[in-house]
Amino acid sequence: MRQLIAGNWKMFGKRADIEAFTAALRADAPAHVDMLVCPPFTLLDRFASTLAGSKIALGGQDCHPAAEGAHTGDISAAMIRDVGASHVILGHSERRTNHGETNAVVRGKAEAAIAAGLTPVICVGETEAEREAGEAEAVVRSQLAHSLPAQFSGVVAYEPVWAIGTGRTPTEDDVASMHAAIRKALVEQLGTAGAAIAILYGGSVKPANAAALLALPEVGGALVGGASLKAADFLAIATAAPL
Ligand code: 13P
Repeated sequence: MRQLIAGNWKMFGKRADIEAFTAALRADAPAHVDMLVCPPFTLLDRFASTLAGSKIALGGQDCHPAAEGAHTGDISAAMIRDVGASHVILGHSERRTNHGETNAVVRGKAEAAIAAGLTPVICVGETEAEREAGEAEAVVRSQLAHSLPAQFSGVVAYEPVWAIGTGRTPTEDDVASMHAAIRKALVEQLGTAGAAIAILYGGSVKPANAAALLALPEVGGALVGGASLKAADFLAIATAAPL
């Protein structure tokens, strides 16, 4: 399976940043991976025009579970689809923490995304306290069990909360064993469909550690935060993915 190298711009970026960034991606995106950029909502439309005709996919960072309605400040999955995006990140730990998103909320959003024709990228991951208590796998299994719809199709991203934006990553053994546990849980939950779901690793992925992380078994790509804001770093991570 081709690896997916996804960039989550979080709450960074202005219109003036787009042109040079997309020009670099158009020129140098490696052919052996799929690339996805998830900018803030304000930049989606302009990104869609700038990326038109390229192989680089576009995604949102959240959507509302309802198709439409009186929800001030929210954005629906259909609106994200309407501007030309194909993916949406859901259940990122920053949304779970800052907006109190429960697994049930994430599942509702995933159902809305799938209904609108978007590919959801569902984030799971343990806190540092949960890892220290030996509960990391149980926490992630529970998130998967309750965040994924019964008929889930999409992508899963394993992002240990303590590795996000900290420069710290789990050991290669810990990443490999968590990804194996996620694969097992996906197959138990979804049957054969669970075998085909890409499992991304996210949390302090940088050009310097990308090759080692992306070569691990059951790692199907990366969800990159800070390093995705610089085209050169994002491209170096993509280039480091195994052929
Ligand atoms: P960093 O790559 O900045 O650690 O962020 C990871 C992340 O949260 C991507 O969704």
